[in-house]
Amino acid sequence: MKGVQKSAIVILGASGDLANRKLIPALCKLFQERKIDESCIIVGSGRTDFTDEAFRRKFDVPGEFARLLYYHQGLSGLNRFVDGKGSFDRIIVFFALPPAAYSRTAEELFKEGFGEETAIIVEKPFGYDFDSARGLNLSLNHYFSEERIFRIDHYLAKEAVQNILVFRFANTLFEPVWNSHYIDCIQINAFEKIGVGDRGAYFDSAGIVRDMVQNHLTQLLCLMTMEPPVSLDSEDIRFQKMSILKALEYTDGSMFQYKGYREEKGVAPDSVTETYAEMKLFINNFRWTGMPVFIRTGKCLGRRGTEIGIRFKRPPKLLFNTGGKLERNTIIFKIQPAEGILLDLSSKIPGGDIRITHTNMRFCYRDSFEQEIPKAYQRLLLDALKGDRTLFVSAQETELSWRKVAPFLNRGILGTYRKGEVPESNLGADWIDFDKYGSIC
Ligand code: BG6
Repeated sequence: MKGVQKSAIVILGASGDLANRKLIPALCKLFQERKIDESCIIVGSGRTDFTDEAFRRKFDVPGEFARLLYYHQGLSGLNRFVDGKGSFDRIIVFFALPPAAYSRTAEELFKEGFGEETAIIVEKPFGYDFDSARGLNLSLNHYFSEERIFRIDHYLAKEAVQNILVFRFANTLFEPVWNSHYIDCIQINAFEKIGVGDRGAYFDSAGIVRDMVQNHLTQLLCLMTMEPPVSLDSEDIRFQKMSILKALEYTDGSMFQYKGYREEKGVAPDSVTETYAEMKLFINNFRWTGMPVFIRTGKCLGRRGTEIGIRFKRPPKLLFNTGGKLERNTIIFKIQPAEGILLDLSSKIPGGDIRITHTNMRFCYRDSFEQEIPKAYQRLLLDALKGDRTLFVSAQETELSWRKVAPFLNRGILGTYRKGEVPESNLGADWIDFDKYGSIC
């Protein structure tokens, strides 16, 4: 992997919340871990007028890191300002801006003279539907070639998500049974306890399918089901993810809204935006045809957990529990909180009779590794500085994934649910009882 070159990191929208809560702390941590050093500079830019000193004082960071921070008001003259601080092999510009400003900003940066050495990082939401995503890609690509655009999906930077490919392809055990002959279904949950909070206006124009399914959960699904890539090169991984996206077919789904949502700040009083969605889909390729995948995600569900359950089929002949029910093997990937993996197995209860019960094998990150799990933005910023695009999403992926969820956008809601409850399902799925496994750690 390429190392970090002498770099300038420019944050547009530097007086905003993202810079304050995530970006500056992540860069500070990278500095403390010596992953970036004094040869790098960090330039904040925004509408507010700050001196360098005043900008440095905004953040609770040690002095030696604060010395890397500079501030320039607005975009005009920004390139000259960065040039004046030295010569840099690489410039990355983070758009901590509303997405509506992306195209215009890319054009202004280009006109300002940011050239071949500059890469841009953009956050989701990346488009609103297929047409808007395509339009945005075209306009960004007009000024910056695709290799210089880093589209963030912060789920890809979660440690337990990165472990999915390792689990699948570094262990001989699972790959032979990783197909619809042996697996009965895959279930992906992203449940949140919190509501829309102060993001009501954004969320009301999006809904949970745009907010979570089109991006984060589709990415999880791709990693869980894609073919092994030829190498770990980002293009090889993207190629395999694209093959899954091409084969996806959403067949069913229902949307709900939590009671009280319409009273949230920024939400329309007659809103029909969904805050919970359950969806069923198939992957119509050689490996997965016929096996359903279920996705459930929502806000105010009384439970927080992102997990993926792989439920296997029963053994072909039942030798045990012939009168009763023999449970099926299940693998649970706990993405958060308390990252881990659980393998659910049937075992004999000690004693004369053959009586079968559930047992499990657990792997918990906290118990297995001493080092701190890096925060998503640390990893993403470092990779962008190294020019490694593996954890970023390509233009084609975003577009295709919008196409696939299109039938579920603006569909309206089927009903409401009380805060703290999960709406009753209409999909007829045999749900994995994730709560039964408790927390893995
Ligand atoms: C964001 C969504 O992308 O992901 C939020 O916009 C959601 O609505 C968040 O709450 C969930 O992220 P995490 O890392 O807390 O699971």
